Amino acid sequence: MDIRIENLPYSSVTVDALVTFVFEEDNKWADVLAEIDRNTRGKLGQLASAGEITGRSLDLTLLHFPEGLAAQRLLLVGAGKRDKFSANDLRKISGTALRYLKPRGVKNFVFLTRDGFTGPEAAQSAAEGLIVADFESDKYKSEKKNNREIQSVGLAGFDSSVAAHLDAAINRARVIADSMNFARDLINEPSNRLTPRILAAKAEAMARESGLAIDILDERKIAELKMGALIGVAQGSIEPPRVIVVRYTPANPRPNAPTLGLVGKAVTFDTGGISIKPANNMEKMKYDMGGGATMLGAMRAIAALKPPIPIIAVVPATENMPGGRAQKPGDVQVSMSGKTIEVINTDAEGRLILADALTYAKKLGVTHIIDAATLTGAIEVALANVHVGAFGTPREYLDQFLESTRAVGEKMWPMPIDDEYQEMIKSQIADIKNVGSGKGGGAITGAWFIKEFAGDTPWIHLDIASTTWVDEGRPWLAKGPTGIAIRSIVDFAQKL
Ligand code: BES
Ligand code: MN
Ligand code: ZN
Repeated sequence: MDIRIENLPYSSVTVDALVTFVFEEDNKWADVLAEIDRNTRGKLGQLASAGEITGRSLDLTLLHFPEGLAAQRLLLVGAGKRDKFSANDLRKISGTALRYLKPRGVKNFVFLTRDGFTGPEAAQSAAEGLIVADFESDKYKSEKKNNREIQSVGLAGFDSSVAAHLDAAINRARVIADSMNFARDLINEPSNRLTPRILAAKAEAMARESGLAIDILDERKIAELKMGALIGVAQGSIEPPRVIVVRYTPANPRPNAPTLGLVGKAVTFDTGGISIKPANNMEKMKYDMGGGATMLGAMRAIAALKPPIPIIAVVPATENMPGGRAQKPGDVQVSMSGKTIEVINTDAEGRLILADALTYAKKLGVTHIIDAATLTGAIEVALANVHVGAFGTPREYLDQFLESTRAVGEKMWPMPIDDEYQEMIKSQIADIKNVGSGKGGGAITGAWFIKEFAGDTPWIHLDIASTTWVDEGRPWLAKGPTGIAIRSIVDFAQKL
């Protein structure tokens, strides 16, 4: 799909469709809508009076062969209340339009913005929405869902006095949205087609293409480093684990630049191990590598956007299987840090592999950490599939990150990390145990376990268990992997 700035007047471009959006308070048409209403001899007004155009969020109205326009169709997308609308919402608008028009045989369209949303930020948002919306999970379908394709989209109505900025904005959108789709592709892969070794090979190909350095630790190196917590999880499977280390080094680092560590859980399949999961929905546990995919996607974008600080991704990859050598409830493992861990439940494996990955990231010299993990079912109880659970210390570091999430329009919510929760992971016989005693707070005790290995290093933990995958498609997004957190992490990496 080609995306470009359209410089011709929108009314004279001959395309399959012209798309714009309508606010609820738009019955007195403003800016381009007033023009379109005039061109179509008051058709918009008639449809609004008839209740066909409401402006309500994502309400769609499609007109064929609209008078006064060269386009074959006019699609109006409801944008809700104007004062609640921001450039970030353009993603949903452009994405919804694309997913509506694509199965209807439209090959090209123009997306016309409105007054107040004409800058580079808005153009980037609209373009990201298109690319993310274009993604389908039909790789293994012999007959593609719709072998229809949107070939090109023009962005019209943007402020052409900043033309160079607009082109740069579209490039940024491409980098970020393609990186999200790269991660979504990985997350979609079934576990027989994405073992730890295959994930490592795919990361290597991505790194080579992006000009990033990569180091893959195999089972021998992992043993040599005494990553006992990761080995404990991996030993139940015949597939050997990998630790994928991807490095970005800026050409001209800022003086005294921090080094950001991005740690992502990549359990390529989580059966639960000996604490085995029920059969129902177990197939979903192929996406238990979502955190690792997120960090690889973020690195892909970082390589192109070139922030002035070094960034290292550490992705521990393993299966969690109940094989003959599998670890058993009650086993004690010695982590790379030296801390001993009583494994109460082998299904709380994400925190175990993150423990050693964080220790290794610190050994590589990272000064700041973000981890992302499909860590707990409990985060869905707390936040449903709306917000990512965001933990972190010190609080200022977490707040700085939350600013990025708001800037890019990803919903994340700060979760508590008070000392009382630390008490809940004290073990009878080892330094800590991998599940909390006491009722509730499962996402928080999980976070605390990871924090034990972050130590004093500024640390953020994103529990994406309920947000990395959607079971129901949305008008602007196919069902399946979402690519959540990549935009925030990339934005934050550029501001740290
Ligand atoms: N991968 C799961 C968490 C998960 C659940 C991700 C649902 C996506 C959807 C994780 O490894 C896990 O099994 N967590 C346990 C922890 C418990 C045993 C303390 C959980 O949440 O039940
Ligand atoms: Mn598990
Ligand atoms: Zn898991």
